[in-house]
Amino acid sequence: MTSLPAITTVAYLVASILFILALKGLSSPATARKGNLLGIIGMFIAVGITLVQPEVQAYGRIALFAAIGGIVGGIVAKKVPMTAMPETVGLFNSFVGLAAALVSLGAFHKGGHTGTIGSIEIFLGVVIGMVTWTGSVIAFLKLNGRVSGAPITWPGRHALNMLMGIAALALGAWFVVTHEAMPLYLTVVVAGLFGILWIIAIGGADMPVVISILNSYSGWASVATGFIIGNDLLIITGSLVGASGFILSIIMGRGMNRSISSVLMGGFGEGDLEAGDAANIQAQAAARGVNIGDVEVAAELMRGSREIIIIPGYGLAVAQAQHPVRELTERLEAEGVRVRFAIHPVAGRMPGHMNVLLAEANIPYDQVLEMDSINSDFPETDVTLVLGANDIVNTDALDLPSSPIYGMPILDAYKSRTVMVVKRSLNPGFSGIDNPLFYRENTMMVFGDAREIVDAMVKELKGAAVA
Ligand code: TAP
Repeated sequence: MTSLPAITTVAYLVASILFILALKGLSSPATARKGNLLGIIGMFIAVGITLVQPEVQAYGRIALFAAIGGIVGGIVAKKVPMTAMPETVGLFNSFVGLAAALVSLGAFHKGGHTGTIGSIEIFLGVVIGMVTWTGSVIAFLKLNGRVSGAPITWPGRHALNMLMGIAALALGAWFVVTHEAMPLYLTVVVAGLFGILWIIAIGGADMPVVISILNSYSGWASVATGFIIGNDLLIITGSLVGASGFILSIIMGRGMNRSISSVLMGGFGEGDLEAGDAANIQAQAAARGVNIGDVEVAAELMRGSREIIIIPGYGLAVAQAQHPVRELTERLEAEGVRVRFAIHPVAGRMPGHMNVLLAEANIPYDQVLEMDSINSDFPETDVTLVLGANDIVNTDALDLPSSPIYGMPILDAYKSRTVMVVKRSLNPGFSGIDNPLFYRENTMMVFGDAREIVDAMVKELKGAAVA
């Protein structure tokens, strides 16, 4: 008869392969659902085989906590809007960190996990787990507005962080040599405090990159847990999460032309800005020489075009305008206009944000083009419709060396014959800086909520078609 350890090894191997295939599937919108399904199957196999191990006995408690966690997780997943996804991921990461720290402390108190290697594993589990936990909680609070999104900085911050790093190393050495509770619990405090002070100094809008980095940490925390409880699957899964989170952070940093270290040093970006009242905005814009247009003119211009490119940004997600945008696209196509979408790699607030939104509204993938494939088409474009986007079309990135976004790749909207920008005001976006595109001669601003404006454009086009 085949033994349980042998079956376990095979099951873990199959689960690992399924996780790798899941990641591959998730790399393209067309295969993302299949990738997700493979991941779910892998997780069922992993949890199932773990539950039948002889060491696992407290079935009553496991069932109770799994039911509580499952119900809470299910409700959260159903209710959370796309715009709140980064903060939800942040919250989930925090649990992984907390679990890693608790497993490490549990292993210490259970005894047996001693020796230099055992002590290092426990120490690392506590450090990575605590930093991930407290850091992720702060990131979550910043993103949902309960803690100010502005970077909270103070003099001597870097020196204090350095001091805490040195203290953690000293505590680690003390613990490895003595294997006593005191240095371990001091490590809990220092690492927890470090997580808070580190993340609180980073601007709210940089948080998605931070979440991705913390996601990577949560993977490494799982690896530490895997070593402590001797579970190979946890080591493999943790490495996958750790490595993919790390790669994603680098990709996001590149798209924003910021190094990961500059994001982690903090101090960039503004707090959230509110749009002012409509009359005030129009007056301010007029005083600054902006061409202000309305929905009728915009609809007329679009009807008379052959080529239109739509650039979606963070504001489109906030306004939840993806469904009206699909209607607008269909309306224009019915009039013989070719409509395509241009996606900047960091449009929105998380990787693939715009692709997911457009897919949700059933906009065909072949109409949705990445920046590199569509950027050369702007000069032949009649109208570029910028919907709730700002930094990703900011020409300062090309022209102004002193700008914080100088060197960031942008979508060349300004090269098209007419640019129409739909947003609520002249307020800046994530980077907190003004955008010269708004003041160009070939630009027309249409002020308002993206959803309301696009709805009105659709109505206008329908009306014109009937008349
Ligand atoms: P932003 O530059 O942040 O601009 C979004 C604009 O949307 C704002 O200026 C805002 O202007 C407008 N807006 C907000 N609510 C709106 C509504 N209801 N209707 C219409 N407009 C609305 O966004 P972007 O162009 O997508 O650029 C993304 C930025 O985020 C980049 O700087 C990028 O580096 C950063 N970032 C991205 C990521 C990833 S991975 N995607 C991660 C971290 C940071 P009003 O207030 O005037 O309406």
